[in-house]
Amino acid sequence: SKKHKVTVVGSGNWGSTIAKIVAENTKAHPETFEEDVQMWVYEEEVTIPKESKHYDESSGDKPQKLTEIINKYHENVKYLPDIALPKNIIANPSVEEAVKDSSILIFNLPHQFIGRISKQLEGKILPFARGVSCIKGVNVTESEISLFSEWIGEGLGIYCGALSGANIANEIALEKWSETTVAYDPPVIDSQAATPTGPSPSSSQINLTITDTDKQQDLKDSRGRTTKARLRAVPSSYPPLDHSVFKSLFHRPYFHVRMVSDVAGVSLGGALKNIVALAAGFVEGRGWGDNAKAAVMRVGLLEMVEFGKEFFGHSVHTATFTEESCGVADLITSCSGGRNFKCARMAAERNVSVAEVEKTELNGQMLQGTSTAKEVNSFLKARGREDAYPLFKAVLDILEGRKTVDDIPDLVARPDE
Ligand code: NAD
Ligand code: 13P
Repeated sequence: SKKHKVTVVGSGNWGSTIAKIVAENTKAHPETFEEDVQMWVYEEEVTIPKESKHYDESSGDKPQKLTEIINKYHENVKYLPDIALPKNIIANPSVEEAVKDSSILIFNLPHQFIGRISKQLEGKILPFARGVSCIKGVNVTESEISLFSEWIGEGLGIYCGALSGANIANEIALEKWSETTVAYDPPVIDSQAATPTGPSPSSSQINLTITDTDKQQDLKDSRGRTTKARLRAVPSSYPPLDHSVFKSLFHRPYFHVRMVSDVAGVSLGGALKNIVALAAGFVEGRGWGDNAKAAVMRVGLLEMVEFGKEFFGHSVHTATFTEESCGVADLITSCSGGRNFKCARMAAERNVSVAEVEKTELNGQMLQGTSTAKEVNSFLKARGREDAYPLFKAVLDILEGRKTVDDIPDLVARPDE
């Protein structure tokens, strides 16, 4: 019987950490997974820093390909320095090669880049593959919004779930305990409604024979609409791709997984909290205390829940925001030690822009909150709803210089109920 091959698409701070987790688990569960995990790396030339223990062995300050560094030293010296990666992670600069024959695709890269990568993968993946998006952001086009999990699913014609939680990557890479939430809820293929597939247009490229016993059906999105995403039966030669397989892929003694079905709630929590974390950074950088930060978090959580209910009410559960790691817990950790929080705090302290701090302090890591604030507000504006989300709006107005941090208290004050 066959085993699932796993690819992690992305290799930044969180991408490398998730690859570490997954590679530990593929090794621990040889009955289910192939041991080697492919990790797609956006290739760049990197100089190993002098303080790295690999500096001596390298050729001094000469830049080297990041994939070669990772495969030689088993460390991502740029995005996850000083963390030993399992040797069964294989860094690959070609995304098409990295996904070849993989039945599980984990998408983990800054949301700014997923569009191009997803396009490159069209027709290159196993048709019955399942995806999991670890991306924190939302996909906004003009007046429409979608979840990256759904958008990846539509683009690639597969089912895609989501992983999100109170997960600052550096802590998890050091194996300090945390929890996460995985939303994975493909419908059971309805044999009445399902249609047999003919040979897939991509089957010759990926060298797979599809027989007419394979079943597929359309998938609905989190707002109940039929989409181009298709659910295809996993061949019976593989272990079924159910909750237990995904739990065994992600759960570690230091990384506790709770499986849920609310993909929209999990995805929205991770995206929207980044806007709130910027606000928390602003008020702390302004010199206000923990009470101000708690006030921002209270209002932020309220807006996150309302946004979910207003635009994804068909499927979102309020409890996902209030009870799961991907909701309130992620909000708290992100407003304590996240990069969006820290960069906004430095920006307010130094009186410079957040973009400037991102450039000088993050060594190539990327903030998600600044672009998410812009995208969410442009979506709300197109719907005439921006005044209903005053904290989200205030963050964008501060980022773009129309308001100051001092304006936040009055902007977010609501009349007593
Ligand atoms: P990161 O912030 O470390 O970003 C750097 C990555 O972007 C590198 O892998 C780099 O190669 C890649 N990159 C740069 N230019 C690119 C391009 N043109 N095309 C493609 N890739 C390019 O990334 P991350 O921390 O791994 O974040 C990935 C996702 O995970 C984000 O949505 C983030 O919100 C989420 N997340 C991050 C953390 C964390 O603590 N870092 C925790 C949970 C979730
Ligand atoms: P930042 O991207 O702000 O560091 O947030 C990390 C995160 O998502 C923690 O759960």
